[in-house]
Amino acid sequence: MDLRKKHLERLRMRRCFDIARLGIRAVKTNPAVGALIVKGDTIISEDYHKNFGGPHAEVNAISSISSRDLAHSSIYVSLEPCAHYGKTPPCVDLLMGSGIDHCIISSIDPNPLVQGRGVEKLRSGGIKVTEGINRLIGQEVLRPFKVQQKFKRPYIILKWAQSLDGFLGRKNERIKISSPVSDRLVHKWRAETDSIMVGSNTVIIDNPHLSNRLYFGENPVRVILDRQAQISPSAPIWTDQIRTFYFSNRKRKFHNPLIESFVLNEVKEPLLQLFSQLYRLNIGSVLVEGGSTLVRACMNQDLWDEARVIISPVNLNHGLNAPALATDPARRQQLGRDQIAFYYHQ
Ligand SMILES: NC(=O)c1ccc[n+]([C@@H]2O[C@H](COP(=O)([O-])OP(=O)(O)OC[C@H]3O[C@@H](n4cnc5c(N)ncnc54)[C@H](OP(=O)(O)O)[C@@H]3O)[C@@H](O)[C@H]2O)c1
Repeated sequence: MDLRKKHLERLRMRRCFDIARLGIRAVKTNPAVGALIVKGDTIISEDYHKNFGGPHAEVNAISSISSRDLAHSSIYVSLEPCAHYGKTPPCVDLLMGSGIDHCIISSIDPNPLVQGRGVEKLRSGGIKVTEGINRLIGQEVLRPFKVQQKFKRPYIILKWAQSLDGFLGRKNERIKISSPVSDRLVHKWRAETDSIMVGSNTVIIDNPHLSNRLYFGENPVRVILDRQAQISPSAPIWTDQIRTFYFSNRKRKFHNPLIESFVLNEVKEPLLQLFSQLYRLNIGSVLVEGGSTLVRACMNQDLWDEARVIISPVNLNHGLNAPALATDPARRQQLGRDQIAFYYHQ
């Protein structure tokens, strides 16, 4: 294959990843997938999987063009087309009757119901299949889905801000560490995540809203762990108009209909119960925003997939030690005066 053709294939697949990411929040426990259709040298359609249980990326991309245009075209899809009846009919059937004669894929679907069957079926139906284009980026886009499939829990992102001398706050004191520009980025992360979680002390000391006020998009669902029901019934957090899941060892009633209360089994490990319950509630991702004890508990139980640490050039001299990860960050990003370190687990 000539170099220009290879380069074009990679570029088009990158475009699939970019549009796949637009659906990252709404697809919940479904994978984020993008597709585009090329005829000759022209992209004639592109679309992505837009919401949980909704039409797949291939279906959306195909539905906006005529069957005449589809004849002898190629489709690029970031994930192998499905071959089974799930919430929607198999995409391979649609492709085989469409006139498309070449399907270019990045990753094989890790879902045991697919795992190569889509490719097999396409090939046996006479469609040429090329797989493995930009596989590494494809796997990165699929990370949340792979975690959900493997562990039956949401994708867990730990996030905290720390001072240059390694503190995340002070006991019983509300301290602001990150800069306004980092705060804005954090709100973008909130907009991209299904839920945001904090421990009881953080609610008691910081009195946070846990909402997305500085970026486009919706609020995540708030998740609060408070086993001993220590958070006061008059805490302002109970009056916000934001959907909230409250986990405690005791049954607690709230007047706010947006708060759902879940009782933990005291004998079992609380975090495992909580994350399994979130998965059953179709929560695909959790941004764990502290405090220190909750983040450490997640780390100690290997219940994390990514960590985003904001390091601000301020010294607190004493206070609560920030959690520490044993590995080096996969990458660092400078944002104004703050530095952000990104870690990936497993
Ligand atoms: N800089 C930052 O990014 C940042 C972010 C948030 C908070 N903070 C600061 O952090 C401080 C609060 O942190 P904190 O460490 O005191 O409290 P915290 O993490 O907010 O609260 C402790 C949480 O850990 C849970 N927990 C304790 N042991 C556990 C275990 N073995 N397994 C599972 N869960 C367990 C507790 O559950 P129970 O309540 O059920 O016991 C509670 O939810 C505040 O000063 C706040 O300002 C800083």
